[in-house]
Amino acid sequence: MDANSPILFFDSGVGGLSVLEPTRALLPNAPFIYVADNAGYPYGKRSEAEIASRVPALLGRLVERFHPRLAVIACNTASTIALDQVRSALDLPVVGTVPAIKPAAELSKNRVIGVLGTEATVRQPYVDNLAAEFAADCTIVRHGAPDLVDLAEAKLAGEDVTVKAVRAAAQPMFDAEAGDRIDVGVLACTHFPLLLSELEQAFPGVTWIDGGPGIARRIAYLTREQPWPSEPEEGIMVFTAEPRSPLLGTLAQYGIGDARTI
Ligand code: DGL
Repeated sequence: MDANSPILFFDSGVGGLSVLEPTRALLPNAPFIYVADNAGYPYGKRSEAEIASRVPALLGRLVERFHPRLAVIACNTASTIALDQVRSALDLPVVGTVPAIKPAAELSKNRVIGVLGTEATVRQPYVDNLAAEFAADCTIVRHGAPDLVDLAEAKLAGEDVTVKAVRAAAQPMFDAEAGDRIDVGVLACTHFPLLLSELEQAFPGVTWIDGGPGIARRIAYLTREQPWPSEPEEGIMVFTAEPRSPLLGTLAQYGIGDARTI
């Protein structure tokens, strides 16, 4: 194993930064490439067939180009639809991000859990299976919130995002049947932890579960015996289309020193 071989993070946009951040906290010297498939954004509005053909093919090309030691699909939409296809197409460990329903069920006193994701994620059988396996005695209220994805992108591009706008995007979940009893909400889209403070202000009684730190621990475990460079290095961000330009300023906070479009 080459100490300079990076970890590759993949999402449709900036959402995967919510997985990158806790990973860097555990593995500060890990070299990384962060890929935002912004040409395909938003994944949540795409069909299963589109995601299942686009994501494994794109990841295959990225792996050939960057030779990562491990790939992280830092996107619930892509993971719940295409994780198996990606794993069988790539000859390296692949970590996915799937809704954190298990820890939510461990916490919920009311036994009513909200799953806030993209429209594509919340309709996946993968979510039915997680609910049946880990939260069989809970009512699961699902809501696809595409506006929240756009708000997270806007926030990272330095635009003003109000609590009011965040509340409006998530409110239908609480207005649905049993929604008024939701005490734990699963952030089932990697963009949403980027709006955690706004969500907490908008819905004060709700505990939000972010799967990011658990994914980071999994990455650290899978790479536990591998060599790393002796010093931290700046990471590289790769876009598949021209990004919004103010975003580049924000990326430095995530240890990203170079951005390119392929
Ligand atoms: N960040 C993504 C997710 O976790 C996808 C957002 C989108 O492109 O719609 O689902």
